[in-house]
Amino acid sequence: MLPPEAAHAVTLQLIKLRSLFFPFKIKPSKITVKVMGIEFPNNIGLAAGLDKNGDCIAGLASLGFGFVEIGTLTPLPQRGNPKPRIFRLIKQKAIINRMGFPNKGIDHAIKQIQKLKVKPIIGINIGKNKDTEIEDAADDYMLCMQKAYPFADYITVNISSPNTESLRELQNEEHLHALLATLKNMQNLLNHQYDRYVPLVVKIAPDLSSEQIKHIADVLIATEVDGVIATNTTVQRTEGISKEQGGLSGAPLTAISTDIIKQLYQHIGPKIPIIAAGGIMNKADIQDKLDAGASLVQVYTGLIYEGPGLLK
Ligand SMILES: Cc1cc2nc3c(=O)[nH]c(=O)nc-3n(C[C@H](O)[C@H](O)[C@H](O)COP(=O)(O)O)c2cc1C
Repeated sequence: MLPPEAAHAVTLQLIKLRSLFFPFKIKPSKITVKVMGIEFPNNIGLAAGLDKNGDCIAGLASLGFGFVEIGTLTPLPQRGNPKPRIFRLIKQKAIINRMGFPNKGIDHAIKQIQKLKVKPIIGINIGKNKDTEIEDAADDYMLCMQKAYPFADYITVNISSPNTESLRELQNEEHLHALLATLKNMQNLLNHQYDRYVPLVVKIAPDLSSEQIKHIADVLIATEVDGVIATNTTVQRTEGISKEQGGLSGAPLTAISTDIIKQLYQHIGPKIPIIAAGGIMNKADIQDKLDAGASLVQVYTGLIYEGPGLLK
């Protein structure tokens, strides 16, 4: 009954409160999966964007997620786009959002991780500030990566949100190669500094032609990226779907993003693990993503419509 963003805030507060009564504990698991050198207690994670600031990591992990991805985080805090910016499409079990990375900044999120008594597997998703020119985007990613590295189990480079102007241009072959080569270089330095290897993962959009997917796959292989998340929200709209501006997620995205995974897998095979996101609303959707070539999955909109019972 609450407007979407108010419901979001209240739910996060309740999850935080719940974690005081049911603190997160690491339990032995019979369904562990090893991907990118990390042992995940199960293959279902929380997708980025729900806990942007890392305020509720323990509470979310205690719901049963195998891993929690926080962010997107930017170097400086920012407000994001004017409200309203989240819209429910109840009949279609979908959401349109144009949040524009509202977040308290990378430093805030790191402090939240430092406060954790027990740490689940945490992905830190990074992006660029709205005011950073696209030519200088690499500086924002590098800064966030340096700060996130000692605290993340993996780091996601988000170049696929439709709500930050020009961001998706970073998926173009030339931009992408330059950006990923720079970040892989930095990963190498940080690996030596901390004596710990933190995988670098790239999150891509579902709105890509077959040719673009092939080019992206070539760059991922050439730069030896550790994983790829497919996909972010879509700007495509089929008949009968609201034309509200922003990224569409949930049921209408399921088939679109599974198709991207299939195409991607044809190029990269098992060499680079795929983390599937996009319209996972039930158990069968998970199986479809795994059959398409994914090693892990993430949910967001499914959790909004089905609640945490979906994890069971
Ligand atoms: C309200 C909302 C905010 C989101 N914010 C982010 C974000 O900050 N960074 C990001 O990489 N993805 C973000 N996403 C995309 C999700 O992580 C996911 O890739 C996408 O929604 C597809 O999965 P789903 O259909 O299960 O929701 C957001 C999605 C929603 C619905």
